[in-house]
Amino acid sequence: MKVLVTGGLGYIGSHTVVELLNDNYEVVVIDNLYNSNIGVVDKIKTITGKEFGFYQEDVCNLEALEKIFSENKIDAVIHFAGYKAVGESVKKPIMYYENNIVSTLHLCQKMIEHGCMNLIFSSSATVYGDPERLPITEDCRVGGTTNPYGTSKLMIEQMLKDIVVANPDFHVIALRYFNPIGAHTSGLIGEVPNGIPNNLMPYIVRVASGELEILSIFGDDYDTPDGTGVRDYIHVVDLAKGHLKALEKITNFNGMHFYNLGTGVGYSVLDLVKAFERVNGVKVPYKIVERRPGDIASCYSDPSLAYKDLDWKAEYGLDEMMRDSYNFILKYNDK
Ligand code: WQD
Repeated sequence: MKVLVTGGLGYIGSHTVVELLNDNYEVVVIDNLYNSNIGVVDKIKTITGKEFGFYQEDVCNLEALEKIFSENKIDAVIHFAGYKAVGESVKKPIMYYENNIVSTLHLCQKMIEHGCMNLIFSSSATVYGDPERLPITEDCRVGGTTNPYGTSKLMIEQMLKDIVVANPDFHVIALRYFNPIGAHTSGLIGEVPNGIPNNLMPYIVRVASGELEILSIFGDDYDTPDGTGVRDYIHVVDLAKGHLKALEKITNFNGMHFYNLGTGVGYSVLDLVKAFERVNGVKVPYKIVERRPGDIASCYSDPSLAYKDLDWKAEYGLDEMMRDSYNFILKYNDK
């Protein structure tokens, strides 16, 4: 089976390509290197010992997509490519909506033209907004998104629903990620955000490695056990394996299906700081500052539907996530 992975050199994409190659899939990657670098190609080949196709192109580019689908008999697509920085999306809404939505529309157009009828879409728990209940199940209300990034994911889910209605043989699985962290145990691939990290884990590892001075914890007055924000952190390798399970099952389902990919366990910011210090034997200096606008108190999944339908559940615990995150940054800084 030949799989096209858009954004396949990115954080989650590269980990998924590794798992696909390890599972003997044929892989073709399209990536414009906006949030990744060409060196990841060799790292994936080093980890897996396998070759794969690569096109340095933009998924918005119809001619590039036509070339890829003409040169390769693609059986399924895993669509990661998209801008994903919440803060940046607030400052640059046109760029976010245009890129994330147009790329998906062009991709679906070319898929259907070429008879490639299986799409796995990289969605996000952000589509739930401030969740109506916890733990979050897939039938929870969606909407109330607070930034163009999250709203673009919600809009794309709706577009895909309409495309499936018009094309009953087009199968879509939308995977709603919670908070992906960690890295491949080799330390060769991981999350390399451009500039100052917005997300918690990349910030913690850079404080621990001495690159940044101190972690600012955005508020300790939330209605949570220790007052700091609670999230459902999931190891990126678990997340990657969830895509392979979706790939195995996608032709069994008609229409469009949604699955939460989380552990079902919520950890606070302070839980992560303490776990990181314990596992890695380093200090993470921090200070409590005011809340970050748009943050919610708690967000964690009920992942049981993915277990029931896809035979998938997260295997890695918090300690492995802390260990692998630090291992990556130490190797990355050493290169
Ligand atoms: C986690 C917790 C912060 C940084 C975002 C996106 C979401 C998804 C995952 C793509 C919160 C606190 C953070 C810091 C802190 N991405 N924090 N100091 O906001 O849950 O989700 O990333 O799909 O779409 O919205 O993740 O890592 O930014 O924050 O105290 O320097 O850590 O307040 O409680 P978030 P995060």
